[in-house]
Amino acid sequence: MKKVTVVGAGKYGSMTALRIAEYDIAKTVVMTDIVEGLPQGLSLDINQSRYVEGFNTKLIGTNNYEDTSDSDIVVITAGLPRKPGMSRMDLLEVNAGIVSEVTKNILKYSENPIIVVVTNPLDQMTTLTAEVSNLSKNRVIGQAGVLDSSRFAYFISEKVGVDISAVEALTLGSHGDTMVPVPSLCKVDGKPLEEILSSEEINDLVQRTSDGGAEIVSLLKTGSAYFAPASSAATMVKAMLSDSNEIFPVCAWLDGEYGINDVYLGVPARLGAEGVTEIVEYDLTEVEKEALLAASSSVKDKVAELGSIKNQ
Ligand code: APR
Repeated sequence: MKKVTVVGAGKYGSMTALRIAEYDIAKTVVMTDIVEGLPQGLSLDINQSRYVEGFNTKLIGTNNYEDTSDSDIVVITAGLPRKPGMSRMDLLEVNAGIVSEVTKNILKYSENPIIVVVTNPLDQMTTLTAEVSNLSKNRVIGQAGVLDSSRFAYFISEKVGVDISAVEALTLGSHGDTMVPVPSLCKVDGKPLEEILSSEEINDLVQRTSDGGAEIVSLLKTGSAYFAPASSAATMVKAMLSDSNEIFPVCAWLDGEYGINDVYLGVPARLGAEGVTEIVEYDLTEVEKEALLAASSSVKDKVAELGSIKNQ
């Protein structure tokens, strides 16, 4: 049985830890945070739900990295969430400092973990984690596409008036402005979305998906979305713990796939016990391929801004 660590016991981290624990496929889920008592209190609360919910995975709350030793998978959620009006890029500097410190601490006690990054700005934080950790690139993965695809699927189901289970949705590219929706591979009851909705209607749903996080931030006033984000991170962890090799849209390292090199970008990938086991190359339309290429250039530009930060 496996050990998972979730760094950051805020909204996203604690919900992710809970969901992973409820799958009941790990021996322990360690939650760690800089705030004393927070991960301990939340872990105690979750452990007290195990009898009712009937799962055995044990939560351990700690402020010590020693307790994270020999983790198979680590999910990094530590960082500041966006405030209303704040873009992901505004978060870059402060979260870069947190994520590199966390990565170094994790690596002191776990030799070769898989790290799932969710801290924003996502593409940069995933790249930074890979560079700071020096882990092989397939073992460092960002979560964005599962969430964006799930948001898109929800908006499609509401618009068309069908159950969510009737919808297949896919978004690739970057998390944010250069998210790449893939309408050619989106379906409702097996039918291409483009036969059901007009391109104007699809564009509206795409825009709402791309702004999905900001819409929730502006409603909440403080804090950002965490239910759907936690489901997205937890399902990736589940696939790797169970070595399922299912395909998910994730932020993965590209080495020539889709004609793109040397960048972390949202693409379909198989997740198994070794992390990303394959980048899956779907047949995209020319427009979608171009949008993915444009997203890769935009991410490369943003990653360049990390230059001075990552060596600190
Ligand atoms: N080490 C460990 N934990 C840290 C550190 C650190 N160096 N710095 C901050 N934290 C913790 C905070 O104490 C807090 O408990 O990270 C937690 C963040 O929790 P929230 O403020 O509730 O934020 P959350 O909604 O969970 O979002 C976390 O995910 O979606 C992204 O943009 C979001 O980057 C943000 C991250």
